[in-house]
This record gives sequence, C-alpha cells and structure tokens, in this order.
Amino acid sequence: MIRLRRITKFFGRNQVLKDIDLTVEKGEVVVILGPSGSGKTTLLRCINYLEKPNAGEVAIGELAVDCKRPSKKDIQALRRKTAMVFQHYNLFKHKTALENVMEGLVVVRKLAKEEARERSVRVLEKVGLGDKLDAYPSQLSGGQQQRVGIARALALEPEAILFDEPTSALDPERVGEVLEVIRNIAKEGITMIVVTHEMGFARDVANRVVFMDGGVIVEEGDPKIIFSRPKEERTRQFLKRITPEANYSI
Ligand SMILES: Nc1ncnc2c1ncn2[C@@H]1O[C@H](COP(=O)(O)OP(=O)(O)O)[C@@H](O)[C@H]1O
Ligand SMILES: [Mg+2]
Repeated sequence: MIRLRRITKFFGRNQVLKDIDLTVEKGEVVVILGPSGSGKTTLLRCINYLEKPNAGEVAIGELAVDCKRPSKKDIQALRRKTAMVFQHYNLFKHKTALENVMEGLVVVRKLAKEEARERSVRVLEKVGLGDKLDAYPSQLSGGQQQRVGIARALALEPEAILFDEPTSALDPERVGEVLEVIRNIAKEGITMIVVTHEMGFARDVANRVVFMDGGVIVEEGDPKIIFSRPKEERTRQFLKRITPEANYSI
C-alpha cells in the first residue's frame, strides 16, 4: 500500500504539487493522466524520494516518512520498496541487457553474483528477452530496451512499480509489446502506478484513473466512469484533446 498525504513540492517559487493525497492499495493498478507539466513525474519521483517533497507524508506498507524530517535510513528504506520504469529507459549503454538488470542487484542489493544472474535471467525471460541477454542497448529496439527497463524493475522485487510514460518514446508499432508486458505483470498482483496516455490500456488494466492538472488531483475514479462521464470540466477538456473521437456526455 502506498499512501501520500498532503504532498507539497516547490521548485524555487514554482509550486508543482499542491497538497496531494493519494492512496494506492496493495495489488491495485492506478493510471495517472494529465497534461504535460501537471506534476505527474514529480509526484512519482516524490514517492521514492528521487525528489524530496517540501512537506507531507509518504507511506509505503508499514513505513511512514514525514517529509519534513526524513532520516537517511527512512529514505533508503522507501527507495528499496519501489522501482521505477522511465520514459527513456535509462539503461547503461556499455552494459548488456543481463548486466543492466544485474547491476542494481549486485551493487545496491548486494546479492551474490550468481544469485543476481539467475534472477536477472528469469525476469528477462519473463519479458520475452531470454534470447537477448548479451545484447547491448544499441542492438535492441526501443520496445526491447524498455522491456529490459521493466525486467530491471521486476528483478528488485519491489512492493510497487512506478511507470513514467513507459511507451511515449516508442515507435507506434512497438507500443503494444511493452503494454502487453505491463499487462501481464499487473495480473500477478504487483502494485503499480502508471503515468500513461494509453487510454485502451487504462480502460482494460487500471483499477482507478487519476487525472492531474496544475499540481492537484482534479478527479479520480473507475476508468469506465472517468472516460465516459467525467465530473469535472477540466477532465472532459483533456480527454477530448487526447481522444477527439470519443463523445463525453455532460
Ligand atoms: N528539476 C526541476 N527543476 C525545476 N522545475 C522542474 C523540475 N522538474 C520539473 N519541474 C517543473 O515542474 C512542473 C511539473 O513537471 P513534471 O512533474 O515533469 O510534469 P509532467 O510529468 O506532468 O509533465 C513543470 O512546470 C516543470 O517545468
Ligand atoms: Mg512527466
């Protein structure tokens, strides 16, 4: 379970997150939607303290951290509970797929090399890359690179995986294979927060959709309801822009 309470984040004078409250239950898949600049990435990064919130509380499972007084130990513990999948994959270019997945296990988690290797092979097979263990990122398609990114997150066996627009840098014909992998992981009951504009995916896989704009959560709810009968005008306008063919009732 992830629970955010009154998360506030400033960059200089620019308040990017305004008192965000969000709870994600264990095993739940939450999709976050919202226009560029609305604070989606910053919110994900606050959950694992890649960004330090100015105020509020981040709780994952039993561990609750007051953002005004986080200890180093708390921050480390929060980071261990989540893994992130980035828009631009963030793979080491000079490491193979297998080495990319092993890296965090050996360096951060201090697993023995053999155990790290076994686990990494297993997750790479799971994302359909069992035959690409020794390939370097430059030898892989964008979709394959992102699947390595997902394998790397899975290998950490986190309590939750945070996906930040995992398909938005991909060629359209590569989007499906990555969504398919994410869909399969969701079925295993891993808690996930996914920032994406893939409406079909959100509709099929999300238990809940959260719409953000201007650093606040404008509206959240069941995807069927949000996509067909959004309550807020801002949500309606946004959905109209990204899926102009849809007809939202007022
Ligand atoms: N490291 C940073 N320094 C200063 N401003 C930032 C930084 N990261 C993000 N911002 C600003 O915060 C706002 C929200 O950004 P972001 O969380 O990336 O939004 P989104 O992911 O929804 O597009 C934007 O106005 C952006 O310019
Ligand atoms: Mg973003």
